[in-house]
This record gives sequence, C-alpha cells and structure tokens, in this order.
Amino acid sequence: MTEPVRYGIIGAGVIANAMTKAFKETPDSVALAVADVNREAAQKLADAVGVTQIYDDYHEMLADPEIDAIYIATPPFLHKPMTIDALRAGKHVCCEKPFVLTRQEVVDVIEFNKTAPHLKVISCSSRYQNSGTARKARAMIEGGELGEVYRVHFEHVTEGYRIGTLFPEWRNDPAKNGGGISFDWGPYDLDWLSFVLGDRFKPRVVFGTMGNYFPLSDKRIPPCLDVDGRLAAEIICDNGLTIHWERRAAEHGPARHNVEIRGSKSGLDLTFLSMGEKRKLHHYSFEGAEELKETILPDDEPEWDKTLTYSIHELTAAIKEDREPSSRLEHYLYIQGIFDALMESARTQQSVRIPE
Ligand SMILES: NC(=O)c1ccc[n+]([C@@H]2O[C@H](COP(=O)([O-])OP(=O)(O)OC[C@H]3O[C@@H](n4cnc5c(N)ncnc54)[C@H](O)[C@@H]3O)[C@@H](O)[C@H]2O)c1
Repeated sequence: MTEPVRYGIIGAGVIANAMTKAFKETPDSVALAVADVNREAAQKLADAVGVTQIYDDYHEMLADPEIDAIYIATPPFLHKPMTIDALRAGKHVCCEKPFVLTRQEVVDVIEFNKTAPHLKVISCSSRYQNSGTARKARAMIEGGELGEVYRVHFEHVTEGYRIGTLFPEWRNDPAKNGGGISFDWGPYDLDWLSFVLGDRFKPRVVFGTMGNYFPLSDKRIPPCLDVDGRLAAEIICDNGLTIHWERRAAEHGPARHNVEIRGSKSGLDLTFLSMGEKRKLHHYSFEGAEELKETILPDDEPEWDKTLTYSIHELTAAIKEDREPSSRLEHYLYIQGIFDALMESARTQQSVRIPE
C-alpha cells in the first residue's frame, strides 16, 4: 500500500488532543474525520488535526469508505463495542489503553476478528515498547548479559494523581474505567514487563492487593473515591523468576520510579517512564568479592512524542507492509489474563493461577 493510512478518530478528549502529532508527523498516517458525542470537543480536535468531517454518532463515521482505520480514544468501557463495530465496518483499529476491561472482552474481540482476519488491531498499552531504555534492557536480557534473570522489583508512585486532582466522572466509576490506578497504569506496566523480559516473562501465579489509603468518602482525592489508588502484587513465573509490582498514587510522599532487574551475572536499574536523571540504564556487577561496578549506559531515548504516538505508527506500518503489528491480540489476551488474576487475588486474598 503506497497511499497514506486514513484514520477516523472516536473521542476528542485529553489524549486525542495530545495525539494530534500522530496524524501530522509523517505523510503515512493522516486523519480524515472525528466523531464525538460532544460536538464542541469534536470541532476543536478537527481543527487541531485539520479535518472538516465531524460526526456526533461514530457509526456514521464508520460507514465512510474512505476511512481505513479507527483510533479509539474514549473511556475504557466503550473500547470493546467500538473495536468490534470498527472491525464490522471493515476498519483496522488502534485503541487507547486499557484495551478492554476483562479477558473475556479480549476473547470476544479475537472471535470477531476471525470473521475478518486481515484487519489489524493494536492497543496503545504497547506505546512504552518504544522506550530506548526498555529496548536496550530487552536486548541485554535476550543476549544473556544478565545471565538468568531471577528477580524484578517494579515500583512506581505516580505523580499525576496528586491529592485534589479533578478527573472526569468516568475515571471514578469502576463500571466505566474498570478500576483506578490499576486500570490506568497496569496495562502499561504488564506490557512493558512482558516486552523487556521477553521469554523470561512467564507469569503463572499472582498474589495481589489493591485499595485506597484514604476513606472512600474523602472527595478531595478523586482517584480514591470508588476505585483503587494502589496495587501491590507478587508474580511468580514458571521459571522461578519473581516479580514484585507496585503502583501507588495520591500519597503524601514524592513520586518514585524504579525498576530493578537482577540476574545471575549482573543487574540493571532503570525506569519505566524514562525521564530526567533516571533516563539511563544503570548496569551493576560484582568484580571479585567486594567491589560493585556500576556502568551507566548511554541514553538513546526517542523523543517523548514518538513514544506517545508509537501505536498509531506501528499500526500504519503493519497495514502498509501487510504484516502483523508488533503486539497481537493474543498478547493482550495474556496480559489481561494476568490482570484478571490480580483482580481476583485482591478480591479473595488468595493467590490465583494465571491462564496459559
Ligand atoms: N488523559 C490521559 O492522559 C490519557 C493518557 C493515555 C491514555 N488515555 C486513555 O485514553 C482514553 C480516553 O481518555 P481521555 O483522558 O482522553 O478521556 P476524556 O474524558 O478526556 O475524553 C473522552 C472523550 O470521549 C468522548 N465520548 C464519550 N462517549 C462517546 C461516544 N459514545 N461516542 C463518541 N465519543 C464519546 C467524550 O465526549 C470525550 O470527549 C481512556 O481509555 C484513557 O485511559 C488517557
């Protein structure tokens, strides 16, 4: 395919406005139309991406034969029905994270995709695969530089959920958002861990907790109204690797971004959101019995915008090259299976086996 891939955008909120570059930075991905139930929002985004076609009802946009692919940027409970509607209309899909709300919803999309297997689907939960440090860490692990990776400690305290932050109502409604910090960041975390650890990432059992630090009635802390503000999990893999995973928010404390990967030969410290001082990869090994050698590996981080827009460009490339996108629906099924097991574990206070 030599022509550009022409996108219709559903949802003209915060993230769609941040993603306008995806449709402007290369001639390969262009926007053709915007659909939003809020006409004012649709008009603003249409102006920003330079299109004139706007729709109140996204179904009308899906009927446009000029559109090849759909970028879905609506609240999470709409992702599955909109993905299936787009596939039914013969469009490829790039869907914001979280891709869907449950493993069963991924199964439903996979089943529907079988009726039109040439149509490609990717989720923006894979956008951090574009991180330079993640790619470098993955190559080092794949190349055996760390030896057998046996322990990962993944701890992130998110800045974006400061006490007093106001969010749209869907973010505090588990029926619409799935959960709080867990659904907001969890799909990214698991996608990133799966990408960086490659074949070593074989989770089998999870024990996790989720909840809030503050009383649910404290309306000054929106993420803690009805949805979780923290998660902590211990994930045990088939090969003995154990992963400690924490996401916390709305704390009286500083943001913290830290990933430690330890192997039989050496270890790595890095961050998930590669920014500031922590952009670099810190490589550790003991030289002899006493001296810990630290090597700071050079930073070749792509610009943040390229990470943000990664999934659109990856879908475009997959369509143009007629290949599978870097992450397939089976990948999202696996990730969602881990996530559902974590939710069940937090509910039952039991460890839960993860589906194959
Ligand atoms: N805000 C962020 O920083 C951010 C970052 C990454 C991913 N995301 C994800 O992107 C998605 C959207 O988040 P957001 O922050 O942009 O939300 P938002 O509330 O700012 O925007 C959502 C938009 O969807 C529209 N919408 C709702 N129902 C619709 C329907 N039936 N048809 C058409 N449009 C409809 C709303 O009118 C609104 O304009 C979520 O899944 C979120 O997790 C958000």
